[in-house]
Amino acid sequence: MKLIIANWKMNPETEFEAINLAKASDVSGLIIAPPFLFLEEVKHSLKNAKLAAQDLFWEKLGAYTGEVSAEELKSLGVEYVIVGHSERRALGETDEMVAKKVKAASDAGLIPVLCVGESAVERASGLTEEVVTRQLLSALELLKSLISNSLPFIVAYEPLWAIGSHNPATPQDVVKVLQCIRTLLKHLTLDLSPFVIYGGSVDALNAHDFLKEKEIDGLLVGGASLKPDQIIRIVEISSLF
Ligand code: 13P
Repeated sequence: MKLIIANWKMNPETEFEAINLAKASDVSGLIIAPPFLFLEEVKHSLKNAKLAAQDLFWEKLGAYTGEVSAEELKSLGVEYVIVGHSERRALGETDEMVAKKVKAASDAGLIPVLCVGESAVERASGLTEEVVTRQLLSALELLKSLISNSLPFIVAYEPLWAIGSHNPATPQDVVKVLQCIRTLLKHLTLDLSPFVIYGGSVDALNAHDFLKEKEIDGLLVGGASLKPDQIIRIVEISSLF
C-alpha cells in the first residue's frame, strides 16, 4: 500500500473552509495535515482519512509560548507528524532541532514524516546525495527509541526547487535518491523498514508516473491537496499499486 499525505500548509483561511475541505477529501488511504488551529475540527469531520500535524515541539510541556508538544497532538487524535519541512528549515530550523523533534514524536508514539531535500544551488553543484545524507544522519542520531518502539518511519524526499514550482523531479531522479536513502539506512544497520516517499509539485496528472515506481512508497502533496478532486484522484491512483 502506498502512502498519500496532504500537507495543507497555512491553508485555508477559516475553520469553515477547513471543515468543508476535510469533508470533501475524506477518503481512506489519505493522511491529512491541516494547520494546528484546525486539527480538532478536521478530526471531527473525518471518518476515513487519518490526521497528521505539520510540526511539533520537542518538550513535553512548560513555558514554551506558541509551541505544541507531541503529547498534545496525540491527545487530539493525531497519528503522524511532519518534521523538518524545508519551509520550516528556511525559517531557521536546524538539523539538531529536527533530530529532537523526530525523537519527541517517536517517544510519544507519533509517526514522524521526516522531510529531506536539497536546494537548487546544491543540486546544481552535485550535492544532492550529500545534503540528504547529512539531513538523514543527523535526524537519526537520536532515533534509538523509534527502533525499540518499532514504529513505522517515513522519510519524504522533497527537493526545494520542486516544491510549489510546477517543476517536479523526474521519477528516475527520485528513485535514485530514494535508493540512496534506503542504502544509507541499511548501512547504519538500523532495524527500520521506512516508507520513503516523494513530494514536490505532485498533482493528479503526474501522480501515476511516481506511484508506478516500486521504489516510491507514496507522495507528500501540497498545493494539489487543497483541491478535493485532485487529492481524491491521487489516492485512487495510489490504490492501483
Ligand atoms: P507542492 O505539492 O505544492 O509542491 O508542495 C509540496 C510540499 O511541500 C509538501 O510538503
